[in-house]
Amino acid sequence: MNVVFLGPPGAGKGTQALKVSEFFGFPHISTGDMFRKAASEGSPLGLKAKSFMDKGDLIPDEVVTGVVIDRIAEEDCGSGFILDGFPRTLPQAVELDKALGESGDKLDIVINIDVDRSELVRRLTGRRMCTSCGSSFHVTFNPPAREGFCDSCGSELFQRADDSEESVVNRLKIYDEQTEPLIEYYGQENILKTIDGGRSIDEVSDSISEFLNGSKKHNVV
Ligand code: AP5
Ligand code: MG
Ligand code: ZN
Repeated sequence: MNVVFLGPPGAGKGTQALKVSEFFGFPHISTGDMFRKAASEGSPLGLKAKSFMDKGDLIPDEVVTGVVIDRIAEEDCGSGFILDGFPRTLPQAVELDKALGESGDKLDIVINIDVDRSELVRRLTGRRMCTSCGSSFHVTFNPPAREGFCDSCGSELFQRADDSEESVVNRLKIYDEQTEPLIEYYGQENILKTIDGGRSIDEVSDSISEFLNGSKKHNVV
């Protein structure tokens, strides 16, 4: 099952993609996490990406697309993958379809998480991320059991540089201009499922699991 999680910054893509990945056993591929890791390791690619990410700008298509296409060709993606944060421009979506088509594969489902704008800002400014395993928490909506530390692996939590108010405004603007058109693109391909992401984490997760289980049962994926 090849799944894409689509949605604006703060919609809960990472939170939900991780749950689906754990439940179904497909790798969770977050482009944001991949480039943040590369940046923290100080690789040339990571440092280049960081200059875009900290401002909330997109990394150029040709840089991101190659990395993702290589990643989904790896063995652990053989029976499926969960993409989170890719594609987020039309050229990325077209290149992904092309690469999958060339290997006789395709995307099965695009889950579009829909959330009100004011709620997104609250979620992003209160978010805390794990330095190690990619889990995300929220100071109010999803606090860790021990303040400042990850529930899953015990590592320290940090606030992302692009969760400043200035970067958040820029990221939402870029989402409207460059990523939102993908809703129509995947709608036309008939693989889009929009989920109301304004509910609690567990309610959203139940809706997504129910939908994916139903699709599996009916051999849609
Ligand atoms: P990326 O890391 O993908 O960031 P994003 O798309 O801006 O999305 P976020 O990770 O901020 O939000 P999310 O939807 O994952 O929400 P989360 O689950 O954490 O990308 C970062 C940057 O990398 C980009 O700006 C760009 O520079 C670069 N990049 C990445 N991919 C790229 C690409 N394809 N092309 C070019 N550049 C690329 O949840 C948010 C918060 O809300 C958390 O605190 C969480 O605990 C809380 N929360 C989640 N769900 C709920 C709920 N239902 N109720 C209450 N709180 C909730
Ligand atoms: Mg994320
Ligand atoms: Zn962790």
